[in-house]
Amino acid sequence: MTPDDFDFLRKMLRERSGLVLAAEKQYLAESRLLPVARKYNIASLGDLVQQLRVMPNSPLAVATVEAMTTNETFFFRDKLPYDHFRDTILPALVAAHDRDKRIRIWCAAASTGQEPYSLALIIRELAQKEPALAAYRFDILATDLSGDVLERARSGIYSQFEVQRGLPIQLLLKYFSQVGETWQIAPEIRAMVQFRTLNLLNDFSPLGRFDVVFCRNVLIYFDQPTKIQVLNRIARQIAEDGYLALGAAETVVGLTDAFRPLTEKRGLYVPNPAARDLEPLAMAGGARRGM
Ligand SMILES: C[S@@+](CC[C@H](N)C(=O)[O-])C[C@H]1O[C@@H](n2cnc3c(N)ncnc32)[C@H](O)[C@@H]1O
Repeated sequence: MTPDDFDFLRKMLRERSGLVLAAEKQYLAESRLLPVARKYNIASLGDLVQQLRVMPNSPLAVATVEAMTTNETFFFRDKLPYDHFRDTILPALVAAHDRDKRIRIWCAAASTGQEPYSLALIIRELAQKEPALAAYRFDILATDLSGDVLERARSGIYSQFEVQRGLPIQLLLKYFSQVGETWQIAPEIRAMVQFRTLNLLNDFSPLGRFDVVFCRNVLIYFDQPTKIQVLNRIARQIAEDGYLALGAAETVVGLTDAFRPLTEKRGLYVPNPAARDLEPLAMAGGARRGM
């Protein structure tokens, strides 16, 4: 791949997924794109880039962008956000929704599904202890840019290695069944989560309002204007008494006033009522139509 090819690739990735690929990461692009070239019977990465130049909207372009995403995830990742979900978010929302009894949750970069399934497992476990919760409807929407990871998520099938990362053994034994050398999550837990392809750079207002948004470990890959515009647009989709959970290396501080951090609850943010009265914040970069 020539320096010019690499520049083209970096620009394309930034425009399509928000991913900022550092100039010194050519080795990463090459190692991730060689399997794509092989799959599409393309002789070299130079030829691959050439095809991207002439067919920017081809399946090859989609596969290229997906191959460059980092899909690292695991059950109950970082523990703390899930403690917040069980101990702070759910009790508050259950009380606030005692009339409509409907709670909407969005995992905005769900990867292979461990995040939404962790939330579903918490809800399920809690409902067994508190039967009043059975009257509530919990809708969990899990979205990601990559159709490949969502396909895996939908199947609910995980390797031995994946179920050993973060998943308590009693939940493994209670909610998973062994299929050969893999483990599949129970149909009733799978049924709690809806999966849908969605690029956070695009307009997501048709998804409606959510009470909880987990948008974890994806903003870190974006540049500052993209982080700001995504956070501001998420703010418009969150109920006034809703919650936003970000990844351990992410924050709203210094980016937007649309949310404020909850003191003593690291990684958890609530809509800022003062910011709601302001004009809608400019969408730097503009939300693109067509999810
Ligand atoms: C590191 S994983 C995070 C998974 C999970 N949220 C967690 O914290 O464990 C990042 C995910 O973001 C997705 N992603 C990257 N850019 C995206 C975009 N523009 N829109 C939606 N998802 C994106 C990737 O496909 C990947 O699955």
